[in-house]
Amino acid sequence: MTKYIGILTSGGDSPGLNAAIRGVGKAALNHYGMQIIGFRDGFRGLMENRIMRLDGGELSDILTLGGTILGTSRDKPHRMPVGGKLLDMTDVIAGNYQDNHLDVLVCLGGGGTMKNALRLKEKGLNVITLPKTIDNDVALTDITFGFDTALGIATDAIDRLHSTAHSHHRIIVVEIMGHRAGWLALGAGIAGGADVILIPEIPYDVASIAAAIRERSRRGKSFSIVAVAEGAVSVQEYADMLAAQKKKASPKQKSGKKAETEDVPEAPYAEKTVRLAKQLELLTGLESRITILGHLQRGGIPSAADRLLATRLGTACTDLIDKGHYGVMVAAKGDGTKAEKLEDVAGKVKTVPPDHPWVLSARHVGTNMGD
Ligand code: F6P
Repeated sequence: MTKYIGILTSGGDSPGLNAAIRGVGKAALNHYGMQIIGFRDGFRGLMENRIMRLDGGELSDILTLGGTILGTSRDKPHRMPVGGKLLDMTDVIAGNYQDNHLDVLVCLGGGGTMKNALRLKEKGLNVITLPKTIDNDVALTDITFGFDTALGIATDAIDRLHSTAHSHHRIIVVEIMGHRAGWLALGAGIAGGADVILIPEIPYDVASIAAAIRERSRRGKSFSIVAVAEGAVSVQEYADMLAAQKKKASPKQKSGKKAETEDVPEAPYAEKTVRLAKQLELLTGLESRITILGHLQRGGIPSAADRLLATRLGTACTDLIDKGHYGVMVAAKGDGTKAEKLEDVAGKVKTVPPDHPWVLSARHVGTNMGD
């Protein structure tokens, strides 16, 4: 019996998405004789039944293409913006799934997508997800595709920022994406030789950072690179955040409604980065400048590692479809993959353990981690 696959990309775009679409599509069409259609712009296109054919030449020449040929959105099935309201469109989505005679819906996305896919599973749809995000914060997978490419972009940026730092004897504060996790800032900070690395998982003390920078100056290094994750917070901000969460949580618990974690990032982080740079300039006497890498980290040609990862996750997805193994995420495990139940993945954020080997390695080469 020919199987019919629907595929969509959801959440922030990421390098490797088209490689993953190609991996699923080519294996489905050529190896298993399955049929596949794409839905445009994430769950919104699925709700509106906006389809893209993938059985012609659409899967050619996309392995090295950034972004997603399907388009994406952050729209959620159960809280879809429709006519200025947030409506539960899950039933409409389930109807379109049936009307297209799908055997399975493949969703390429990050943490928010895992939660949305689980909701559709609970509605009775067959779903499989692939872990995508430059943040590398999806639980139960060794790594997500997009991370390696972003790591290379951020590392190259840090390399280049060393030129102005040592020429002008400056502090360069470079803000790196990652949302609530510090993997990208930590990895690029180590690879780029940043002198200070600040991640959300280790609240920082500005005085400690300034002391480390002054010590470098005393040793003749009159410049410093500070790699700061966009979600990094000071010790005080962390305390304020905990207090606010405690206050916010209490009314919801009375009503029994679970406080929903936000998928869409909070307000842009730039003001915190500017403030940190100004504080360090005042405390060290060194001029400071900031660079916000932003969406550069998601752009352009995926790295070889991401193309390899996305392709093998995509083909492993079709192996599961062939076996009728649904309701799972295709997790990267070493050289292979593992089907992890969506219930065990959704709603979890993989953050950096403060004693992670990467953190210890950074400390051992003399990097200040803000504490
Ligand atoms: O989740 C990936 C990510 O790039 C985060 O690192 C970042 O905070 C967020 O998306 C930015 O979201 P948007 O592209 O919607 O501004």
